Amino acid sequence: MTGFANAADRAAFIAALPKAELHLHIEGSLEPEMMAALAQRNGVRLAFDSVAAIRAAYEFSNLQDFLDIYYQGMAVLLTEADFHDLTTAYLARAAADNVRHVEIFFDPQGHTARGVAFADVVGGIARALDDARARGISSRLIMCFLRHLSEDDAQATLDQALPHLHLIHGVGLDSSELGHPPDKFARVFARARALGLRLVAHAGEEGPPDYVWQALDVLGVDRIDHGNRALEDAALVQRIVGAGLTLTVCPLSNLKLCVVRDITAHPLRAMLAAGLKATVNSDDPAYFGGYINANFIAVADALDLTRDELLILARNSFTGSFLSAADQAPHLAAIAALG
Ligand code: HPA
Ligand code: ZN
Repeated sequence: MTGFANAADRAAFIAALPKAELHLHIEGSLEPEMMAALAQRNGVRLAFDSVAAIRAAYEFSNLQDFLDIYYQGMAVLLTEADFHDLTTAYLARAAADNVRHVEIFFDPQGHTARGVAFADVVGGIARALDDARARGISSRLIMCFLRHLSEDDAQATLDQALPHLHLIHGVGLDSSELGHPPDKFARVFARARALGLRLVAHAGEEGPPDYVWQALDVLGVDRIDHGNRALEDAALVQRIVGAGLTLTVCPLSNLKLCVVRDITAHPLRAMLAAGLKATVNSDDPAYFGGYINANFIAVADALDLTRDELLILARNSFTGSFLSAADQAPHLAAIAALG
């Protein structure tokens, strides 16, 4: 074991690292216990009759398998208080993992399509983020467009967001990747950019390297979410490295959605070796079996990551964030002090 006496020693080092989480779908932090409690509070009928049955359904062979269950789970989220409680629960988990900054995705179309008011979704999340700010966790909110829906639907969602842009820092692109390339959303991303929003997109999770090229060249993203399949194209890797763009990598998600066949086959070390600014994130922790430290530990144990690699990953999480350089500085200093 490189640089650590044993696995417990490495886990303790990971736990002590200050971290930023840059790839977290707030709806994907809905634990089965909270799903059952909110179903009861809101009088929503679930397809499952126990928490154990909900958890037992979490066996996925690809992204779409997961998304089908993820959209079902969202049905219990109806009120501003629901979004507040969901976000508060995630932030408590993040704080326990020594996460100091979060950039949270939300999927408004998953809620407005069910009749939930956009203001209740964003208001509930933002109220919880405000509470956490007072306790030392900074945050940004990123509104994702569901790529299986039309660009017109995304434009209508951006219209709905206009009165709330003081709470929203960026836009992203998620949901079913294959068959829904980034260029489908060229106009809405251009409009978001003109509004001063930062841009990210899921690309190269299941989709081919061409989708990553499109995210860069057509959408002009500031960051790539996942990006695993970029490794298949050396010119693309050079482009991402040259631009200094960050990849938000999600090891346990990749395992559960069969993006990698085994955690020991995860490309994280190869990404770092290629000079890519990779970070470690939990994606949808309630569905994929672990929050950020569990992701770090799983991939560090499987790949025998060194102290230096773990320090780089923690550093990348802040330098890849949308915090200003001045706001990154104390976190980078705290990481340097552990080196
Ligand atoms: N990929 C695409 N869409 C998603 C994901 C993901 O990992 N999680 C939630 N929506
Ligand atoms: Zn994701």
